[in-house]
Order: sequence, then C-alpha cells, then structure tokens
Amino acid sequence: MSDRAYTPPLGTGDTADYDRAIRRWTREIRWRRAMIELLAPRPGETIIDVGCGTGSFAVMVKTGAPGARVIGIDPDEEALVIARAKGDAAGADIHWERGFARDIGSRSADAMVSSLMFHQVPMAEKRAGLAAMHAALRPGGRLVIADYGRQRGLMRLLFRLIIQRLDGVADTQPNADGVLPELLHAAGFVKIREAARIHTVTGTIALIAADRPG
Ligand SMILES: C[S@@+](CC[C@H](N)C(=O)[O-])C[C@H]1O[C@@H](n2cnc3c(N)ncnc32)[C@H](O)[C@@H]1O
Repeated sequence: MSDRAYTPPLGTGDTADYDRAIRRWTREIRWRRAMIELLAPRPGETIIDVGCGTGSFAVMVKTGAPGARVIGIDPDEEALVIARAKGDAAGADIHWERGFARDIGSRSADAMVSSLMFHQVPMAEKRAGLAAMHAALRPGGRLVIADYGRQRGLMRLLFRLIIQRLDGVADTQPNADGVLPELLHAAGFVKIREAARIHTVTGTIALIAADRPG
C-alpha cells in the first residue's frame, strides 16, 4: 500500500502507462476473454466491476452484453477519467463510481467481477472487500476474479521482479502464497473453483469463480 491509502493502477508507475503495460506484459486478451467466458453475462443482469481501473473489462462486458447493467467502481479518479473516455468512445453506457470494495453497500447484483485488484490491497482490505462483495450479491449470484494467484517456480521469480517491484511485497505476497481461495471461503462463498491459470512474463494469473449460496 502506498501513502495514498491505496495502490493506484500501476503501483509506483504512471496511470497513463497502465493500459499499454497490461497489454504488453500480461497476455491481456487471453485472460480477459477467459474472464468473459467464465462470467457469461446475460441481458438484464446487474454486473459490478470492483477495482475497475481504466475500465477495459467493464467496457468489454457491456459491449458483449448490451442488455446488462454494468457498474464500474474504483477509488482512483485518474483511472476513472480514462475509463469514462473509453466507455464513451465505445458507446457503452456504464455507470462509473468512485469508491473502495469495502464500501459497495447493499446492491443485490447478479455478478461481481474483479481483475488484478486483490493482489494490490492489504490483507484487511482483501477480507473487507470480499465480505462487502458477498453481501452485495443476490443469493445465488456469482463472483469472477482474475488476479495473480499462487506463484510457483519461475513464475514466483518473475512476479517478484516485476509486480512486487511495482506494488510492493506486503500486499502481494499473500496472493503469491495462494491465499485467495481460503479468503473466498471465509467470506462465505461456495463452489470456489480455479478455472484457469495463465502464465505471463509477470507471473501466473488465476481465474477464480465462486458463488454466493442460493
Ligand atoms: C491493477 S489495477 C486493475 C484495474 C482493472 N481491474 C483492470 O483489470 O485493468 C487495480 C485497481 O484497483 C484499484 N484499487 C486499489 N485498492 C482498491 C480497493 N481497496 N477497492 C477497490 N479498488 C481498489 C486501483 O485504484 C486500481 O485501479
């Protein structure tokens, strides 16, 4: 965590460089498409992207499922400015909100998504964010996360060299040690499954799905 009360999109890097960095270093198309497949958005659903950053995934959801109501939430105003512009350019009617995961409040959403956010937040925030996301889902609602998960072998080294330099060690190490599934379980999620593990030059990105009990 930086002295800003949260870590911005590219950690110690510049938010203006975020989209280019993600495209170049994370096999972005591969994991975002896998995330969409796992989410399978349907018309009429309310889908909330928590820690939406510069809005790439929220725009992808809305353009692929125009009948869904899509909300993007992030604490970083600079990222939200980019997200709004991206949504407008795509003609995607998305509701952007400034806020933290823990402050989502009562919503009754059909699905929650979050990409590359949890590895950047402290343990207490990971727990509080997941609890709030669980509470804001309707019973039977689903959660899809794409984030750096357990890192093994070479992936652990690459993760240390790049992601931990940008985002620090304290918040990222629990993810690298594989903490996400147990945090989901503790927050009350069920049917927790790792649907894919995508190896990148910055470490392994895990696709994790879970449900709120019906
Ligand atoms: C690496 S970026 C990922 C952005 C986007 N989800 C994506 O896939 O490109 C992480 C984002 O999480 C946001 N963030 C940091 N702490 C947060 C928190 N406690 N709750 C919600 N979002 C947070 C940051 O502002 C940043 O935009």
